[in-house]
Amino acid sequence: MKLIIINGPNLNLLGKREPEIYGSTTFEDYFGELQAKYPDAELEYFQSNIEGELIDKIQETGFSYDGIILNAAAYTHTSVGIGDAVKAIKTPVIEVHISNTFEREEFRHVSYISPAAKGVVLGFGLQSYDLAIQSFL
Ligand code: DQA
Repeated sequence: MKLIIINGPNLNLLGKREPEIYGSTTFEDYFGELQAKYPDAELEYFQSNIEGELIDKIQETGFSYDGIILNAAAYTHTSVGIGDAVKAIKTPVIEVHISNTFEREEFRHVSYISPAAKGVVLGFGLQSYDLAIQSFL
């Protein structure tokens, strides 16, 4: 089982970015916990602040991996290009958000990813990623 977590802009700052919303754990630390918890899942992690790099990674993994866990962060609400990339590939994508985007500002209620996603997990903090992994196992 080959799974990749793809994180979008500003998620490299997890741990110090708005900790009241996103918590105080860095993603690197949390990713280590996930790898330890799921030793049989081949888990990979990629982060970029650049829209085109996220699209490249979705295309690169989207015909051979078993699953993509995608938190496109702010691009979720703006990127037709990332939405189209998710539609273009074969690998199932689970859309993930740390926060409950529906209890936040209205512009976060729109997602260009959801129409093409296999499922959506949001609002469970970093545990949202764990739940998305479990959906593939
Ligand atoms: C986020 C929610 C987005 O609205 C926001 O732009 C992010 C993170 C989340 O994981 O809660 O950067 O995707």
